[in-house]
Amino acid sequence: MTFAEDMTADTGAGISGHPPLCCIRCRGELHDEAEPRCAGCGASYPVDDGIPRFVPRDNYAEGFGFQWNRHRLTQLDSHTGMPISRERLMTGSGWSGEELRGRTVLECGSGAGRFTEVLCETGALVTSFDISDAVHANAASNGSFPNLRLIQANVYDLPLPEESFDFVLCLGVIQHTPDVERTFTSLLRHLRPEGRFCVDVYAAMVAYPHLRQLIRPFTRRMPPARLYSFLERAVPRMLPLSMALSAVPGVGQGLARLVPVANHRHLGLRDRQTMLSWSVLDTFDWLSPRYEKPQSRRQIRRWTENLALREVSIRRRRGMYVIRGVK
Ligand SMILES: C[S@@+](CC[C@H](N)C(=O)[O-])C[C@H]1O[C@@H](n2cnc3c(N)ncnc32)[C@H](O)[C@@H]1O
Repeated sequence: MTFAEDMTADTGAGISGHPPLCCIRCRGELHDEAEPRCAGCGASYPVDDGIPRFVPRDNYAEGFGFQWNRHRLTQLDSHTGMPISRERLMTGSGWSGEELRGRTVLECGSGAGRFTEVLCETGALVTSFDISDAVHANAASNGSFPNLRLIQANVYDLPLPEESFDFVLCLGVIQHTPDVERTFTSLLRHLRPEGRFCVDVYAAMVAYPHLRQLIRPFTRRMPPARLYSFLERAVPRMLPLSMALSAVPGVGQGLARLVPVANHRHLGLRDRQTMLSWSVLDTFDWLSPRYEKPQSRRQIRRWTENLALREVSIRRRRGMYVIRGVK
């Protein structure tokens, strides 16, 4: 039995179990997701290759669309053969596959879909969105999951009802948005009372200084294709130095930050080509985004208190804070 047959047989879940889409102008329900048109105000939304789009094609996340379509498979567990994304998601969130099965999950900023894949495999009803055309890379890899619905949308203006999801997940995203607190608040609006969330964010620079901060003002203005082709040549030269520095006992991690190249030594990737591919991708991911806004633990604590969230934990993990709790 394929996964798709298994899902339908066990849970009866199809696209219909998801919270409905709604109009971003008047909040009326959009009845036909294949041709979204609002009966209330007459607004209609384009569908590109089967994915409804609620944002203009050109937006600040063009570089992300570029990187994820270029690296559609690089970080997917099904491609690496290693449970790297699964472990980050499950350890960070504290959720289990059994808890997620059959429940509604909202995934924000899904990129190429490394976490979408893990969520879909649990049998959850997953709505994943991204503001960029990375949604097409995600569809190419995960589109055959019957429990996945993909949309291209902005977290600030989602075509989804409030308080409608059992779980909300957002990894690697909010520091790359124009107003990080507003992103957190907007996302939590779609979680139902008693629902659970897991969001991570870069830790403030005081705690995590990095040479890339000095370079970004130049690189983030470069056209994505130009920056990428520069990194394709530069990263293979810099990575060996970064690897050697990171191997120095005790101080390796700090020393490696002197070389502005993403180093995944801790992951134990299987060969040089895989390491290079991850490194080019993540170095581009550091240097190209329009926004990069790390946050302090104090700021995060304030957001969670303002929203009266419960059972909140804020844990530091490899330069990030992982925030989880209950609404
Ligand atoms: C660093 S990538 C992370 C992707 C994925 N979560 C992962 O960890 O592989 C950040 C993603 O957030 C998306 N993003 C940025 N601003 C957004 C917004 N306002 N609404 C929705 N997605 C957004 C970008 O397009 C990009 O794909």
